[in-house]
Amino acid sequence: MSHTARLSAENQPAKENGPTHRILRIDASSRVTGSHSRTLADYFEQQWLRKRRDAEIRRRDLASDPIPHIAPETIAGFYTPPEQMTGELRAATAVSDTLIDELQSADILLLSTPIYNFSVPSALKAWIDQVVRIGKTVAYDGKNFTGLVTGKRAFVICAYGAAGYAGKGPLTPFDHLAPYLKLLLGFIGISDTRVITVEATSADAATVSESIGTANREIEAAVAALP
Ligand SMILES: Cc1cc2nc3c(=O)[nH]c(=O)nc-3n(C[C@H](O)[C@H](O)[C@H](O)COP(=O)(O)O)c2cc1C
Repeated sequence: MSHTARLSAENQPAKENGPTHRILRIDASSRVTGSHSRTLADYFEQQWLRKRRDAEIRRRDLASDPIPHIAPETIAGFYTPPEQMTGELRAATAVSDTLIDELQSADILLLSTPIYNFSVPSALKAWIDQVVRIGKTVAYDGKNFTGLVTGKRAFVICAYGAAGYAGKGPLTPFDHLAPYLKLLLGFIGISDTRVITVEATSADAATVSESIGTANREIEAAVAALP
């Protein structure tokens, strides 16, 4: 089967009883326990499973199962026409193929991540560099880019230690996490992206609890609005 045909088939809803039941959950916090972004993603999952008992959730934990950085052979493979691929290049692009298949097979991307040094954790950047790929997730005609990851929506849960990033706060210019992820997902074709943030996770217990409560209400509203 040609690659194009395979992608189109994967973009179809898997079951007839609803288009949004397959979730790809990706967690990026280095903290496997005590992580606010992961706890909020758990809550999203619980809410979603209450609503759709037939939901399938596939998880990818970027901390427990790190994605390798792209190597020179990976880049060579990305730009080699299929008929010229060698065994070595196929091996070097196998991780990318797997990650792209996972993404294309999902209806919903649930991505949880902290901000590290004003940007994405390197574990998540490694995933991004494997997934953003000309001819597979984005088409380029020499002039324009067109995203190929269509028919999906994304929920991105972002945890910030400080307060003041959201709502034009004083740290907004330092936020290279949420705006970047929205842009990046849009670039590959996922234009329906909702960001849910929890800020001030390094603050006192009462402030943290209030921030989490607000994020939980946002998650409930987001899941309720899903078909
Ligand atoms: C290496 C590192 C860098 C961080 N950089 C920032 C930052 O730039 N801005 C910020 O608000 N918080 C920063 N933090 C705090 C985390 O974003 C915060 O603790 C968040 O809750 C972590 O996500 P988690 O709770 O899901 O693990 C940083 C934390 C670490 C470990």
